[in-house]
Amino acid sequence: FFRHLSLADGDGALPRRRLIKISVIGAGNVGMAIAQTILTQDLADEIILIDAVADKVRGEMLDLQHAAAFLPRVNIVSGTDVSLTRSSDLVIVTAGARQIPGETRLNLLQRNVSLFRRIVPAAAEASPESLLLIVSNPVDVLTYVAWKLSGFPASRVIGSGTNLDSSRFRFLLAEHLEVSAQDVQAYMVGEHGDSSVALWSSISVAGMPVLAHLQKNHRSSAASKTKQFDEAALEGIRRAVVGSAYEVIKLKGYTSWAIGYSVASIAWSLLRDQHRIHPVSVLAKGLVRGIPADRELFLSLPARLGRAGVLSVAAELVLTDEEERRLRISAETLWGYCNALGL
Ligand code: 2OP
Repeated sequence: FFRHLSLADGDGALPRRRLIKISVIGAGNVGMAIAQTILTQDLADEIILIDAVADKVRGEMLDLQHAAAFLPRVNIVSGTDVSLTRSSDLVIVTAGARQIPGETRLNLLQRNVSLFRRIVPAAAEASPESLLLIVSNPVDVLTYVAWKLSGFPASRVIGSGTNLDSSRFRFLLAEHLEVSAQDVQAYMVGEHGDSSVALWSSISVAGMPVLAHLQKNHRSSAASKTKQFDEAALEGIRRAVVGSAYEVIKLKGYTSWAIGYSVASIAWSLLRDQHRIHPVSVLAKGLVRGIPADRELFLSLPARLGRAGVLSVAAELVLTDEEERRLRISAETLWGYCNALGL
């Protein structure tokens, strides 16, 4: 249809940029929210969708392909065979049972470990150089499982962890402070789940420590109309963060959009070598005070992400005694589950 220009030298082949291939294993609500957010980011040249249900994943592929006129050019492929993911730069695993209303993430463990035994070794063999990003729940324990089953170095196995909890935390704080969530620095660490830990003492807006300011305001204007924002209010926010997923699951059956954005932002930081800090699930061996240094467990800590995966982990978090105690409980809980698997 278009004629080739006649180029002077040989076949006219121009040096081509290395194409970026991202695979998403599990084309349910979460997998598709991730795929669609990644599409809008113009990050991938190729997106591979894998699911056990052939018709469903083909339908999802066609539905995305039909948006071609509105998106950058991307090759979208789908199928049921994990070998289609061959030579991926990033493999995102969302496959697995999901919580029914009221169920905890840790309840899903046995069902999803069996599934991971089938998926992870095949994915690792197809893409031995890939980064592996685990999203299925319970994400911290399954990231440990994926690390063991893939044989990959820990720097290339990452769990989506509390990147999402931290966004929920920032959203709620931002609402109280009437600023943009993007200007709130606040981290949730530990388990992505019921024992997650809010780092109240390090919350800041525009470099200003929030907790100290609010406590001072609260003390000096107890009777005034100034917004009260003491530790009890913050604990209320932490509980609201932990309850967020339960609430959404009760209302709409599952969560999808926020985890889609959360994982797409991690994917961007990794593949575009951003060196951005994300609270994600990493091998925390020797990194949690009070936990013996030989215990292998994954939990979320602020980590610097780039093209090689986890470039480094914040090991010197400034924690109050209470935060430290809660992080230790989170680590002990997770280690109990990891250890019991006998991997
Ligand atoms: C979430 O927090 C259920 O882990 C999922 O949205």
